[in-house]
Amino acid sequence: MRVLGIETSCDETAAAIVERNDMTGNGMILSNIILSQAKDHAPYGGVVPEIAARAHIEILDELIKKALEKANIAIRNIDAVAVTSGPGLIGGLIVGLMTAKAIAFATKKPFIAINHLEGHALTVRLTNQLPFPYLLLLISGGHTQMLMVQDLGKYKCLGTTLDDALGETFDKTARLLGLPYPGGPALEKAAASGNPDRIPLPRPLKGKKLDFSFSGLKTAVRKAAIELSPLKQQNIADISAAFQMAITDILVDKVRRSLPLFRDAFPDIENPALVIAGGVAANKAIRSHLEKVCKKDAFQFVAPPFELCTDNAAMIAWAGAEHHARGEQSKIDIAPRSRWPLDEKNSFKDSQGAKA
Ligand code: KG4
Ligand code: ZN
Repeated sequence: MRVLGIETSCDETAAAIVERNDMTGNGMILSNIILSQAKDHAPYGGVVPEIAARAHIEILDELIKKALEKANIAIRNIDAVAVTSGPGLIGGLIVGLMTAKAIAFATKKPFIAINHLEGHALTVRLTNQLPFPYLLLLISGGHTQMLMVQDLGKYKCLGTTLDDALGETFDKTARLLGLPYPGGPALEKAAASGNPDRIPLPRPLKGKKLDFSFSGLKTAVRKAAIELSPLKQQNIADISAAFQMAITDILVDKVRRSLPLFRDAFPDIENPALVIAGGVAANKAIRSHLEKVCKKDAFQFVAPPFELCTDNAAMIAWAGAEHHARGEQSKIDIAPRSRWPLDEKNSFKDSQGAKA
């Protein structure tokens, strides 16, 4: 089964073709084309929704053509069209959704509307053939959640952010320090030459429930930056290192306390796994610390390759393939949704009739 995937929920325009073997259930990426709009948004220090939507319109057709060419497949030979229909910026979602609907309608192929977060959540099943269930730490630009992935379409949230998402916190902190957009990778780079112990920073909600809160940490970074102002290169490096360390400590704490909950919920799973997904999962320091926690508790640590952590269309095509394999598809009149929690409904079918 070969599925065309389309992703336009934020500032990456992406199209991909993924093949799923119906016998083994394994997947393969035939093409994965991504065009980042980062340079269009960089002057503003964050994503400008109107600019994003216009940029998607201008390039999406071309990217789909390229994805088909690279995969060496004609559009009539794809088996389904999958597209991100939420959550995300509404203008971008409309562009992707209308394009996917038009292709599905013209080619008479099944149309599958995908929750962007589900794309991130299922990527490891494409890259690592990981069976259900598993524990998932989803850390992206717009979301921060600890989830139990019980089965396709069955997600139980253990904790979520009470204020900012983690990627957003990275981006805002980076901007405060004068680092370029997107902030996450820039801050990680700056932190590499910094001293994480020089500037004391708080760890909000560490040791308490499984929810996250980052606004207090952000404020503490602002205060430290003002005190050290004007910021020299070494100050920026030290604040970045201290910030990254504080985040890592918080994530380690949440993961350590979630592992036993997963074991209790699924006592028969012999080789339990923690998966990290979303753009922030590309952070090497976070990855290596979480890997150690898992090792200590006899959990597998599974993370997608770096390029599949951040937004892409292969994850959307794959999620579409998983649903298609179970005989599920969406109604062609489905509306985009700027908000769409992953654990809102326990079944894919229920969510497909929802209107924005
Ligand atoms: O998943 P993603 O590509 O988009 C959303 O769905 O939100 O995540 C983007 C986020 C941005 O906030 C970006 O700064 C962050 O992921 N990010 C990182 C790193 N690479 C990307 N954060 C920390 N360290 C990184 N290496
Ligand atoms: Zn994402």
